[in-house]
Amino acid sequence: MKRIVVLVSGQGSNLQALIDACQSDSHRIQGQICAVFSNKADAYGLERARNAGIAARSLNPADFADRDAFDAALANEIDSFQPDLVVLAGYMRILSPAFVQHFAGKLLNIHPSLLPKYPGLHTHRQAIANGDSEHGTSVHFVTEELDGGPVILQAKVPIFPQDEEEDVTERVQVQEHNIYPLVVGWFVEGRLAMRDNAAWLDGQRLPEQGYAAD
Ligand code: GRF
Repeated sequence: MKRIVVLVSGQGSNLQALIDACQSDSHRIQGQICAVFSNKADAYGLERARNAGIAARSLNPADFADRDAFDAALANEIDSFQPDLVVLAGYMRILSPAFVQHFAGKLLNIHPSLLPKYPGLHTHRQAIANGDSEHGTSVHFVTEELDGGPVILQAKVPIFPQDEEEDVTERVQVQEHNIYPLVVGWFVEGRLAMRDNAAWLDGQRLPEQGYAAD
């Protein structure tokens, strides 16, 4: 059984979708989440992990001299669980280059936009402000470029004229809870890899917008 470590900073609804996919009878993910880490002791995601019987730990950035020291300690803790895959699920902290290199090729993130559009924060707000008629979410391999690693899979949602930010956020999250377990499942089945700064599924190089973007 492949071993998965998840990092969260907040609600952890994506974590919950992953837990459910590992634990459900259908075993949509043939893997085991062995630990959840957070940079926030009060992240609700840690509670979700405990409720599921998964080791839940937090590290406080204030206890470390700088980002490199924090990330080195976190990488050490993660390594003690010997994961095959490290999944960022709403982990709201910039990663040091050393951390990214250490887990290169087995580090995934989900970002709430149709990358390369809107890296960074407040993506839903920007999409509405720009009058976009569609928005979405992307699962990608993590590289040193913020929200810039090769895209594996995207899901699109419409934006309607009367939408508030919360409406779009909610619509995007429904899609996130579908596509993140799907991609994590591909990874644990050994179908997915990062090579030559591209994502590969079943030996096929995926296009820039990921699998079957349209
Ligand atoms: C998600 O929308 C994800 O795209 C972004 O942060 C949010 C996390 O939500 N990276 P949750 O903590 O999984 O509920």
